[in-house]
Amino acid sequence: MNSFIPWIGGKKLLRNEILKRFPDEVPSKYVEVFGGAGWVLFAKESLSKQQEIFNDYNSELINLYRCVKYHSEELKKECDYLLNSREIFNSYKEQITTRGLTDIQRAARYLYLIKISFGADGKTFGCTNRNIYYAVDMLREVSERLRKVTIENQSYERLIKHYDNENVLFYIDPPYYQTEKYYGDLFNIEDHERLNNILINLKGKFILSYNDCDYIRELYKGFYIEEISRNHNLKSNGEKYKELIIRNFK
Ligand SMILES: C[S@@+](CC[C@H](N)C(=O)[O-])C[C@H]1O[C@@H](n2cnc3c(N)ncnc32)[C@H](O)[C@@H]1O
Repeated sequence: MNSFIPWIGGKKLLRNEILKRFPDEVPSKYVEVFGGAGWVLFAKESLSKQQEIFNDYNSELINLYRCVKYHSEELKKECDYLLNSREIFNSYKEQITTRGLTDIQRAARYLYLIKISFGADGKTFGCTNRNIYYAVDMLREVSERLRKVTIENQSYERLIKHYDNENVLFYIDPPYYQTEKYYGDLFNIEDHERLNNILINLKGKFILSYNDCDYIRELYKGFYIEEISRNHNLKSNGEKYKELIIRNFK
């Protein structure tokens, strides 16, 4: 199935390439470390014998996932009849930073801001005729998909340390090199090296996606690196964008 939200750096176009590279033998745990819109998780089959863990350090995003999982009907009601309007957009942007909202009210406002903003940045009014009804209509299905998924809100170091063992597959999709600022202050330039140090010593298997640049190629030179070329998300002139899929297994 598709994700219910757009997301900066979302892997809508790369998800099948990533799924093709999953190991033949099914690991007992699957951990999505930098979850975002979860394009790979939603495209992946839910397997009865495998525990799935979905994580992101963005707490508004994780509040939205938890509300979808446990309160999809209430969230749907909270979103009903919301129109695409600059006034509502600006008012929600203010409300979300103040106290006094319930988790469900916050989740509805966050969903609205993500869907209506330009490039899903949650900050800039999108000036399009987009609305949130497609996402809202999917909430029940998404809730069902998340039923057995453990949802975490940790930074990657703690999460990986907690779940790492020989029978785990991690899908790792960090902010791309030199795009860290698009995700607030959750990840900075030094984190690429920190993440690399953790992955060098990982007991489990990992699949890692990154932008194709010399810095990342150098950091991961001891691993299997494949180059993938896809259409550029934001350009309609056929320009290609190159990404890397890096693994510690073949
Ligand atoms: C490239 S996006 C992931 C996109 C996702 N794979 C998808 O398909 O939508 C990177 C994600 O990492 C999250 N993030 C940033 N810093 C983090 C950290 N220190 N620990 C865990 N998640 C973090 C961001 O909130 C963002 O959602």
